[in-house]
Amino acid sequence: MLPNVLQPTATDHVPVLADEVRECLAVQPGATVVDATFGAGGHAAILAADLQGRGKLIAIDRDPGARVYFERLEKRARVQARLLRGDFGVVLPQLAENGVRADAILLDLGVSSMQLDRPERGFSYATDAPLDMRMDTSQELTAREAVNAWAEGELVRVFRRYGEERYARQIARAIVRRRKEQPFERTGELVDTIKAAIPAPARFGEGHPAKRVFQALRIAVNEELDALEAALPAALEMLRPGGRLAVISFHSLEDRIVKHFLRDRERGCTCPPDFPVCICGHEPELRAVQRRPIRPGEAEIAANPRAASARLRAAIKT
Ligand SMILES: C[S@@+](CC[C@H](N)C(=O)[O-])C[C@H]1O[C@@H](n2cnc3c(N)ncnc32)[C@H](O)[C@@H]1O
Repeated sequence: MLPNVLQPTATDHVPVLADEVRECLAVQPGATVVDATFGAGGHAAILAADLQGRGKLIAIDRDPGARVYFERLEKRARVQARLLRGDFGVVLPQLAENGVRADAILLDLGVSSMQLDRPERGFSYATDAPLDMRMDTSQELTAREAVNAWAEGELVRVFRRYGEERYARQIARAIVRRRKEQPFERTGELVDTIKAAIPAPARFGEGHPAKRVFQALRIAVNEELDALEAALPAALEMLRPGGRLAVISFHSLEDRIVKHFLRDRERGCTCPPDFPVCICGHEPELRAVQRRPIRPGEAEIAANPRAASARLRAAIKT
């Protein structure tokens, strides 16, 4: 349950797998907690409450909009707290390099409800809005720029790789044709172009026809997977022995990166599988909290449909 210090309002982000995150991270009074995806501070409030007035909270978010939520938490949670605005793929390595150590680190990946539900942020295919999709609103690259300037081959690659979109080639071709006439400005124009580019039966298939392209563009514009790849080793370096790392992912591309990272570090040995004995001598650096990823139950999904695709993986530094 969320402590009283930060009950979300109807429009705020509802923290996903909140009880499970709390259990996996097992924060003790006096600890240093890093919430690398602060958002509306839902998870941070729970973890800060477990510090029981003793310890430190380091919050990170690349979205300047996180500040108002941080200020609200800072006033109510009785711990030392700091917000660092930036990409966790850059900030965590900097903290690690500067010798900052932590007992619990959380990454709750993807976008928040505040980002998805504000039409002007341009993340949603459901409402017509400017094509933006930047988590960090000071970043130069927007979805508009990507759609209007990237070469057709690059668009195909992005839609396939980050969206697993079957009709990537047809959609990219239609985008290039349309932008020669008139550049894209709005999400609605992109949705119409996608719908017109795919075969009619696919328009009525599983989910919204623009869902995969929007996911792909969002991942590419925000370089989400690169940030995750850079963040995980830095998070491990920052953890004290016995410290815990928890990561919630929302699609298979993210989850694959997390799963492989944790598996490699749990195994230790980096020798090729056909070597009869280990010659590398690497020791396991992590121990899984649970073998399989933790998924939300039916009740949580019914209350918060956005939780449906969440997978939580957690590990303890040896
Ligand atoms: C799913 S929300 C987190 C919600 C939060 N756990 C809560 O309970 O309110 C993800 C947040 O992480 C931020 N984010 C995503 N990728 C990031 C990155 N590479 N660096 C920093 N922040 C990032 C987003 O801006 C968003 O606010």
